[in-house]
Amino acid sequence: MNRRNFIQVFGLGLGSIALSSTIAGCGIAEPTLSIGWEGPDPAEKDIRMQVLAYAILCPNPHNKQPWIIRLTGPHSFDLYVDPDRLLPATDPLHRQIHIGQGTFLETLAIAATGLGHEARIDYFPQGMYSNTELINKPVASIELIERPGLTPDPLFAHLLTRRTNKREYDNRRLAQSEIDTLHDFHGQESTAPLTIVQSDEAKHRFEQILTDAMQIEVGDQERDHETIAMFRFNEEEVQKYRDGFGVSQAGLSGIKKFVVESFLLSREQVEKDPTEFGEQAVEMTRATTTSTATFVWIATTANSRLDQVRVGRDYCRINLKTTAMGLAQHPMSQVLQEYKEMRPLQVAFKKAFNIKPNDTVQMLFRLGRAETPPHGPRRLISELIQS
Ligand SMILES: Cc1cc2nc3c(=O)[nH]c(=O)nc-3n(C[C@H](O)[C@H](O)[C@H](O)COP(=O)(O)O)c2cc1C
Repeated sequence: MNRRNFIQVFGLGLGSIALSSTIAGCGIAEPTLSIGWEGPDPAEKDIRMQVLAYAILCPNPHNKQPWIIRLTGPHSFDLYVDPDRLLPATDPLHRQIHIGQGTFLETLAIAATGLGHEARIDYFPQGMYSNTELINKPVASIELIERPGLTPDPLFAHLLTRRTNKREYDNRRLAQSEIDTLHDFHGQESTAPLTIVQSDEAKHRFEQILTDAMQIEVGDQERDHETIAMFRFNEEEVQKYRDGFGVSQAGLSGIKKFVVESFLLSREQVEKDPTEFGEQAVEMTRATTTSTATFVWIATTANSRLDQVRVGRDYCRINLKTTAMGLAQHPMSQVLQEYKEMRPLQVAFKKAFNIKPNDTVQMLFRLGRAETPPHGPRRLISELIQS
């Protein structure tokens, strides 16, 4: 791989790549990355399947889609963590995986209202396990109860358009009215406070801390391989696995995407030597944080599995609300992670932002404005269901 070209292209400029007329004129089609995003099949009559077709669209770590569904009755099912879809190197305590259970439950609950149902959610019906273990017990039992005339949650309208936007933003701060809207909205149902910062000082600190965090994250073989395993190097991989994320979600399209996928990035090369992939992740983190004026976090004092699930629900609602407001949203989780190499930077991060040392920052994300990237793919609902 030609490192200079790789970095220039992946860094969003075509740089010194000489595009042949064959490539430039080949009429590259945009990918069909909306796999799974059409909502439920109109012919589907089973309310459980209709609701699950929305739930699978929720934000979740690395787009792992770590859910198992066991049907328990004609209108009910249990949700479990899929133990084969964890991120043990970057999320060793499975905290983010449990946040991803909450995002699933929130999306499901909102979808139910749009389909004239209430989703009654009973958390950890067989008992909650500690936040350092994962036990084969349901995270929630869900019962769908028909409620004719129920007013749909206004966020229902945004389930099929919500996404994570990892592109560079335009560096503009949110208006005070937008911040007030988000605080009011979050205050209505939140279980953990939302902090929004956009001073110059905060921005500079975040640029440094988040870039340093990515630098720490890369360069460890297990962590690198965990991320690379979820990176989709081309359309064939997207179609085959229907999970993870790729060049499109990182913000490349058209010819740039074609060049990167065709000539500069291959799974074989990157797995053999992930150094440049890692360097690029650091450069992209620097570029995205530098392009951002507004950073947000949700922190909790307690950190049980239920707290994590509840934060997932809150985070999902905020992502849908910012979608409604025309804002882009992007979590940056590296500095929050629990592996030992991250600890000193995490301590420094909390100190820099006056976060209590024993509080857990559950979600840290940036907000702003940017062009909309394509959706990440989703698997079939049938793949979630186990007997
Ligand atoms: C708990 C959690 C942590 C996440 N951390 C990151 C992150 O560190 N970096 C990132 O680019 N995206 C992060 N994401 C966003 C996911 O990559 C994204 O939700 C997933 O790829 C699905 O894409 P979508 O949200 O556009 O549907 C995170 C999402 C969740 C729920």
